[in-house]
Amino acid sequence: MYDGKKLTNEVGAPIPDNENSITAGPRGPVVMQDVWLLEKMAHFNREVIPERRMHAKGWGAYGNLKVTGDISKYTKAKVLQPGTKTDLFIRFSTVAGERGAADAERDIRGVAVKFYTEEGNWDLVGNNTPTFFIRDVHNFSDLNRAVKRDPRTGMRSAQNNWDFWTLLPESFHQRTIVMSDRGIPASFRNMHFFGEHTFSFYNDKNERVWCKFHFLTQQGIKNLTNQEASEVCGRDRESHGRDLFESIERGDYPRWTMYVQIMTEEQAKNHYENPFDITKIWRHKEFPLIEVGVLELNRNPENYFAEVEQSAFTPAHVVPGIGFSPDRFLQGRLFAYGDAQRYRLGVNHNHIPVNRAKCEVNEYHRDGAMRVDGNYGRMPAYSPNSEGYWSPQPDAAEPPLDLEGAMYRFDPKDDPSDDNFRAGGELYRLMTEDKRKLLIENTAADIASVTDNVKYRHAVHCYLADKEYGERITKAMGLDLERVKELSKLDNNGLIEATLNP
Ligand code: HEM
Repeated sequence: MYDGKKLTNEVGAPIPDNENSITAGPRGPVVMQDVWLLEKMAHFNREVIPERRMHAKGWGAYGNLKVTGDISKYTKAKVLQPGTKTDLFIRFSTVAGERGAADAERDIRGVAVKFYTEEGNWDLVGNNTPTFFIRDVHNFSDLNRAVKRDPRTGMRSAQNNWDFWTLLPESFHQRTIVMSDRGIPASFRNMHFFGEHTFSFYNDKNERVWCKFHFLTQQGIKNLTNQEASEVCGRDRESHGRDLFESIERGDYPRWTMYVQIMTEEQAKNHYENPFDITKIWRHKEFPLIEVGVLELNRNPENYFAEVEQSAFTPAHVVPGIGFSPDRFLQGRLFAYGDAQRYRLGVNHNHIPVNRAKCEVNEYHRDGAMRVDGNYGRMPAYSPNSEGYWSPQPDAAEPPLDLEGAMYRFDPKDDPSDDNFRAGGELYRLMTEDKRKLLIENTAADIASVTDNVKYRHAVHCYLADKEYGERITKAMGLDLERVKELSKLDNNGLIEATLNP
């Protein structure tokens, strides 16, 4: 396809030789005058851009969402109206590993989807778990420092990881998921993914409901054991990327069925748990899954850097009919992504083709590094202006949201309804014996190098969630069950006090 492209310099002048430097004599030194050589070296030195602070290793694909169900009574979003088909770009990632990390590691998987809707881009930036480790933005940078490299050794540290996790009991459910068989998916195609947070929908009448997004794999769930994963990593660090790429190349297009859960504002007020706490789930029996449509991936990117590395997603990008929620963790994310991308890619990153909306964009920003379109030419740069440019669109306003309570640093643990072990215990009891066995073995292997005080904290959390879970993990970690039982009588502060480093 590219045959016949003749080499030029960066501004189109022909290059006569791309292999032999200009030297002073056949065996002499290189001269400054070889400007093409200088250009090549200088460009090369600047080819690496910062990697994403987390979710650095990832793979992308294009596809579409076809809406087969009817949720129009909840949302006016055009992308979710019956029969609509919308193009999308997706990026799958691991979280802790750097850009060169192996795919088949025990970790959660990020799944970010950019829907190019006719009302602007809608980004759903989720993971393959329905819940998360933490629930306050304050803990986010610490979570990443704990799971990434230790400042002294430059190595990943199970001690840091488990120390941090077990000091935050709200991470228990997610810890159980990551240590379960689902902690290492066999491929991106063989896992579900979720928006995790509570978002909102509002309809034509400006009536709001709360919602959660679920995408269930049509390929079936498949996972790797630790042993299988270490064999895969030894053979192929790009196993998940390769699987995705090759399946799309051979026309075996992966699909997920999209569902939503709906909670009314009234139900939310009376719910027995905080419905805006990301570490809590909405139980399917109480809030059934409503089918929305099918997400299919059917085209590979042409260029990894241009399309995958330069893609930029943010939960702040929603479209009319879809809104945020009071989830304090989501609120923090609304700032973090754009800020990271202004640093990682530059202030005009939304002009990069993979990020660019397919509909008309009139944000009237000006200038900035790498502004490569017409920069809005002679149109006014300020608003309001007497020419009527850049007039707002009041129809797109979200319905008002009543708030209550004082402004304060509320600790969710002070809320009597806050039970951090219930969902993890329910999950354990749902597991078949072979899954429970794997959970215990995986945890014992992962935590093996960690000090006993931290192991006790985890054992106590397991015991509080389910006695059998606690007893089995205690035995597998070689701890004293009587001490676990004693420690489980303490409140969270007491447990922390009793398990600080000796
Ligand atoms: C307060 C909490 C969080 C903060 C501050 C945060 C921040 C970030 C930042 C700064 C990036 C890198 C963005 C870039 O360089 O383009 C990122 C990536 C990502 N985050 Fe979060 N994050 C948070 C929680 C979450 C949660 C709860 C999820 C899942 C529901 C999630 C899913 C992702 C995904 C999938 C990516 C990779 C996006 C891509 O493929 O480009 N994050 N996050």
